[in-house]
Amino acid sequence: MHAESGKAPDRPRTSTGGVDRRGLLAGGAVVAAGLGAGAAALALRGGGGGGSAPGRAAAPERRTPPFHGERQSGVTAAQQPATQLLALDLAPAATSDGRAALRALLGESTRVLAEASGAGPADARLRDGEPAGLSSVVGVGPELAARLGLNVPPALLTAVPVFPGDKLDPARGGGDLVVQLCAADRWPLSVVAEQLGAVARAVGATVRWTQSGFLARTAGGATPRNLFGFKDGTANPTAEENGQWVWGPPGPYEHGTVLVYRRIRMDTAAFAALPGERQEQVMGRRAGDGSPLTGTAEHDEPDIYTKNPDGSYVLPATAHVRLSSPRLDGGARMLRRGYSYDDGPGDRGLLFCAFVRDPAQFTRVQERLAARDALNAFVEHTASAVAYVLPGAKEGGTLGEGLFG
Ligand code: HEM
Repeated sequence: MHAESGKAPDRPRTSTGGVDRRGLLAGGAVVAAGLGAGAAALALRGGGGGGSAPGRAAAPERRTPPFHGERQSGVTAAQQPATQLLALDLAPAATSDGRAALRALLGESTRVLAEASGAGPADARLRDGEPAGLSSVVGVGPELAARLGLNVPPALLTAVPVFPGDKLDPARGGGDLVVQLCAADRWPLSVVAEQLGAVARAVGATVRWTQSGFLARTAGGATPRNLFGFKDGTANPTAEENGQWVWGPPGPYEHGTVLVYRRIRMDTAAFAALPGERQEQVMGRRAGDGSPLTGTAEHDEPDIYTKNPDGSYVLPATAHVRLSSPRLDGGARMLRRGYSYDDGPGDRGLLFCAFVRDPAQFTRVQERLAARDALNAFVEHTASAVAYVLPGAKEGGTLGEGLFG
């Protein structure tokens, strides 16, 4: 029996985590009225939803969010259809040398990312394309933080455990520094990842792993589908909820967050072989419009308490959206910005990327999922990484300045 806690009121949600689409549309109207790039930036950063009103012709959001600011751009910027993640490892070194290498790496990475997001990057390969909406996130891993005694939220140092069923490949997960780049297409991602690899090598660091992912480009801000064919990213927190569950608490870490990354292989053939009705019971939502089995519209809140006349739950006991429901977790929400990946036959799936204040939010949900989720028959977690996403760099400043205090 699950106890209800933190009943959340119904509210409009976005697939990208942030503002209500109508608010975003209003933001767009302000921009259109000619209030300029500053207003455009504000509209983008205010809560970070992308997209436009449902049913509207989609103008893909290509404006590049400003690199500089209190928070890094890649957490709440409009979600772009391409991503590249990379993890870097510093050379093992005495603490003081390690700190110096990290400072140098963060300084150079800041320069690379600021330049790639700004006007007229030096690298010709980034100059002639259309604006790609490049956003980035840079975080430090728990092991590095412990090794160098870095100033990170203490909760980060509680590692995400290995869960039953995990088949984790250490070469595809972990890392001292984890970077996520997102853009409208892969071109700038590949160029910027190369530049980051070069600055890493210059301080004796190595690229531990890279992973690229993609999303369907949907019309009118519609929620993209995952490789099982279901809309994924519907129930994401509002901008206000991000303040409670995603960004750090008021104080030294309030502009940081934690990225939890899981590379999850999906057996799409086996799932596709299920009758459609069974697929919907597994997910707890309808494949067509993404509505919960207890509702009629995509953004209706799944109701985990409604029962059928025979006493069974409408949302089955092992349905994914029941087990991941915030109602079972004091209302806690994570900001999910997942991508699909395709690394060849038999290795396709989901790059689960979630931003949380505390990695324990992820752990509590994954403990329930690992134990009972009907999806488990079709998925396998093959890599895992956690990183403290640093506060943003102010103009003229460097990412990670607070780490060494
Ligand atoms: C391949 C693996 C997975 C697939 C295919 C998948 C798919 C989905 C889908 C289709 C939804 C419903 C639409 C939505 O709200 O986005 C959903 C919801 C959700 N999933 Fe997953 N998911 C996977 C793994 C995970 C993992 C590992 C976690 C966290 C431990 C997770 C947490 C959630 C949460 C929190 C929700 C929203 C629940 C709510 O507020 O209603 N999912 N997922």
